[in-house]
Amino acid sequence: MLHLVTPTQGSTSHDRSSDPALRSGIEAARLAAVERYGILDTPPEPAFDHITALAADIFSAPIGVLGFCGTDHVYFKSHHGLDATQAVRGADPAAPVMTPWLRAQFANGFHAGVPLHCPDGHEIGTLCVIDRRSRRVDEQQMRRLRALGGVVTDMLAMRLAARRALAQAEMTSREVDHRAMNSLQFVASLLQLQSRAVMPETAQQLRAAANRVLAVARVHRTFTTIGTTDRVPILDHLRTLCVELSSSVGSEIRLESRDEVEVSKAQVLSIGLIVNELVTNAHKHAGDPISVAFRRVDPTQNELSVLDSGPGLPAGFVPTDAAGKGLGMKVVNALAAQLGGALSATNHPTSHGARFTVTFPVS
Ligand SMILES: Nc1ncnc2c1ncn2[C@@H]1O[C@H](COP(=O)(O)OP(=O)(O)OP(=O)(O)O)[C@@H](O)[C@H]1O
Ligand SMILES: [Mg+2]
Repeated sequence: MLHLVTPTQGSTSHDRSSDPALRSGIEAARLAAVERYGILDTPPEPAFDHITALAADIFSAPIGVLGFCGTDHVYFKSHHGLDATQAVRGADPAAPVMTPWLRAQFANGFHAGVPLHCPDGHEIGTLCVIDRRSRRVDEQQMRRLRALGGVVTDMLAMRLAARRALAQAEMTSREVDHRAMNSLQFVASLLQLQSRAVMPETAQQLRAAANRVLAVARVHRTFTTIGTTDRVPILDHLRTLCVELSSSVGSEIRLESRDEVEVSKAQVLSIGLIVNELVTNAHKHAGDPISVAFRRVDPTQNELSVLDSGPGLPAGFVPTDAAGKGLGMKVVNALAAQLGGALSATNHPTSHGARFTVTFPVS
């Protein structure tokens, strides 16, 4: 059976209620449904371009459009054979949203369209085929266009499910981080309690251990806002950590770097713990101000350094030689090795103060 499909006969099912309040309520719910997919006014994607190309091919027509309907516009997610990227939406609730625009743009042409509905029944967009001249289409072509519309809504449902799963995973990860931090704080309190019941020298060791556990908790807390992406803007996090360290050690700690550098998520905790240890040392063995710097030395290497204004390094100091040193240098060396890098230390060439540097490969 053959059909003549004209611009006035789009097959969209629009809400035809005559009650304005009811209509605006339905429209608000419809817009909320579209927003959930996060697809309105977003860049083209090959998967959708394949669908509009195939839709046009089924009708041997030059144009295939997939549009999602916002407040005033239908945004074309894909526009095969057409330069326009959006259409002004029709205001008449009784007519398909694209009709006025299609009439204006393709006065003597044809369009065949299928509405796209989300599972709760709201119309979120349209998949349509357009020609600049009038033409006949048959039932089989319309059936195939409807099937393609179904593929689009299935793809959207899968994307929505993936977005929700991601949000859930992020929430679970935040919850786990939160519990881990609470546990670390609990361990620190236990160590502090225990320090009251032992000899002064042991008590000092236990308090130092408690402080280290608290420092790990601090780094953890500062860096748990990290999302799910693999790359992390490290200066953003170091800035927060420096503010936290300034108030916890009571020294002025500056972040010198300005150009943001992205590091891999796996490197972030080690970087934070190194800064914590080196800043603690600068406060304990040197003096204010203390500065932290992070930069990409070349495309393959990152450099993290902590500079202080103290008396400089003890004579013959070798930072990688663990013998006779405290726990701090051992921790920093282990973390630097974890990053695949190395620790070095020098005195400031002109003024006083020591500079500790960890250089490690860009992951
Ligand atoms: N910024 C610095 N300026 C001068 N000397 C430093 C600096 N950082 C470390 N040192 C020297 O290196 C030594 C080893 O540091 P390390 O962090 O391993 O031990 P610690 O700070 O003495 O003790 P712990 O870290 O176990 O509390 C220090 O005792 C100190 O002599
Ligand atoms: Mg130390």
